[in-house]
Amino acid sequence: MANLWSGRFEKGMDKIVEEFNASIRFDKRLYDCDIDGSIAHIIMLCEEGIATEEEKNKIIETLNEIKKEIESGKIEFSVHDEDIHMAVEGILIQRLGDIGKKLHTARSRNDQVAVDTRLYVKKEIGLIIDNLKYMEHVLLEKAEKYHDEIMIGFTHMQHAQPVTIGFHLMAYFQMFKRDIERFMDSLVRTDYCPLGSCALAGTTIPINRHRTAEILGFNNVTENAMDSVSDRDYVLELMSASSICMMHISRFAEEFVYWNSQEFGYISIDDSFCTGSSIMPQKKNPDMAELLRGKVGRVYGNLFQLMTVMKGTPLAYNKDFQEDKEGLFDTIDTLKNSLLIFAKMIEKTEFETENIKKQLNKGFLNATDIAEHFVKMKIPFREAHEIVGKMVKYCEVNQKDFIDLTDEELNSIDNRLSKSTFPDLSMEGCINGRVSFGGTAPSEVKRQIGVGKAWLDEI
Ligand code: ARG
Repeated sequence: MANLWSGRFEKGMDKIVEEFNASIRFDKRLYDCDIDGSIAHIIMLCEEGIATEEEKNKIIETLNEIKKEIESGKIEFSVHDEDIHMAVEGILIQRLGDIGKKLHTARSRNDQVAVDTRLYVKKEIGLIIDNLKYMEHVLLEKAEKYHDEIMIGFTHMQHAQPVTIGFHLMAYFQMFKRDIERFMDSLVRTDYCPLGSCALAGTTIPINRHRTAEILGFNNVTENAMDSVSDRDYVLELMSASSICMMHISRFAEEFVYWNSQEFGYISIDDSFCTGSSIMPQKKNPDMAELLRGKVGRVYGNLFQLMTVMKGTPLAYNKDFQEDKEGLFDTIDTLKNSLLIFAKMIEKTEFETENIKKQLNKGFLNATDIAEHFVKMKIPFREAHEIVGKMVKYCEVNQKDFIDLTDEELNSIDNRLSKSTFPDLSMEGCINGRVSFGGTAPSEVKRQIGVGKAWLDEI
């Protein structure tokens, strides 16, 4: 069968050209968006007196039939179908003859692919947000459970100050919260209907673009037909937001990898998320965490692939734009799966709190607390910092801890020091004291969890 556009051609496409040109292999997943777009289009054409009631009804009925048959696997596509738009329209014409040929009135594949992709991106943003919300629920639950359990807080991967496990988890809650907000924000700009822009310049046929937008559930109509068929910003926005979100996943996954190591022993990842070694019988490897850490690569890659494709393309539509889809689909699949798998893994992870506690006495985690105590004694902070630095050095040389120091030893460092005035330097004391807004005190962590919960319930 000849292609739907073959009127001005004398010969058919070369076989390998046909393969190279076709996008049906991957864009078939847009079938439902494509059919929804066509149904809205024919309803509008009928309302405006451009198609008859009978034509509309026959077209809608047949499109719904086609949709069902695609879903049940009854329809098999071939490269000869070129893309999902041609495939669906081709079947429609096969079944309805001349009536089917009316559907493409006042429409081009250029606005058709744009509306399909926007509908798809809108739907998928909703699903990504659902998975992010699940992740947030899991984090809130774990943070609550461990809101007062102490662990080491690091900077430069060196022991810094004690924090609570709940506090550390709530840091990730904030990152994923911003991710949700970013996706919601990108939805605002995606929610514009381009259908009716036609090839690039609009149409002489008296269509009603606002009506099609309304039927399809769009909030707005794109303003300029040329921009409408050339714009892929909304795909890039989804890819950018996904890249940032995958970067968060990658950082968190890395923490799971080292927390799970023999050296740390903070967690023991559930067997169902680990794999063994083909040679070393004792091994239990955190493969899922490593894969989650690595998956970010393809998501960044997809973003840069499309940025590069779009760069330098003149107005209006160019076939280059067909290259937007595989990366878009891969990004969406990767992100949704990563969020789901990670959330489930976190749900099944418990912290080895006893083991963590054993590591707290290394690294003078309470040094800042002593410096802040000196500040309360009216010693300027820079001087206090210097004094505690000397105490650390003395302790290291003499293999002592702060609490082992006698008043005599303290006085040899600075004559204003006396052990009796020291605050509670236990890890609990350090944690409980950090009640500043956003601090790690359990009461503060509880407040953060409360605010987080209220936000999650509201969105
Ligand atoms: N498969 C094409 C794409 O994804 C559809 C639009 C083709 N339009 C055209 N005039 N060749 O971009």
